[in-house]
Amino acid sequence: MDWEAFLAPYAQAVEELKIKFRGVRKQFNHETSHSPIEFVTGRVKPLASILEKADEKHISYDRIEKDIQDIAGIRVVCQFVDDIYRVVDMVRERNDLQIIIEKDYIKKNKDSGYRSFHLIIEYPVQTIRGEKKVLAEIQIRTLAMNFWAINEHSLNYKYKGKIPTDVKERLKGAAEAAFRLDEEMSKIKKEVQEAQRIFHRK
Ligand code: GTP
Ligand code: MG
Repeated sequence: MDWEAFLAPYAQAVEELKIKFRGVRKQFNHETSHSPIEFVTGRVKPLASILEKADEKHISYDRIEKDIQDIAGIRVVCQFVDDIYRVVDMVRERNDLQIIIEKDYIKKNKDSGYRSFHLIIEYPVQTIRGEKKVLAEIQIRTLAMNFWAINEHSLNYKYKGKIPTDVKERLKGAAEAAFRLDEEMSKIKKEVQEAQRIFHRK
């Protein structure tokens, strides 16, 4: 198996998608007072992690491109929860990609406390042998959700996926606190906007 050749279109997809979503951010910053996108990151899953996941989930090599859907990963981080849904709506309208699966882990968070909106998309990459469609995962989340997720992720790494029960409970509590922070910020934002509307009317 030539893994370098296998991963090349995923690397291409990540680079293109980063440029495209950062372009959206720039356009919003130029043309409006608020961009729903704060920042965009992306990565190709390291080969070791792909093989590990294939092993754990009993996925044969010929099924990897269909069954491991996060080899190409894009993360879109927003200030406010409603920005997430604006970004999702925008992605739905795009004609350079196809949404395959939508998972709303905001309305219904995961047991760990994890919150984010996930899109699995099919993205066409132009190669020297014609078009190649690859799957990519777009994670859309607020700064607070991101703060929680990156901390929980490093604890998972530290404890090799076996976080002690007491730490798990505290993480769930921290997830609730992050959620309340998002709610509170949304309320404040609405009140500020309302105050601005009243001010402009005068
Ligand atoms: P994998 O979790 O990727 O094996 O596949 P899945 O089909 O279960 O997808 P899911 O939507 O649950 O998770 C996809 C990705 O979301 C993961 O690879 C993580 O990046 C992220 N994620 C999901 N759950 C958690 C969580 O509890 N904590 C953190 N930090 N990230 C999570
Ligand atoms: Mg999972």
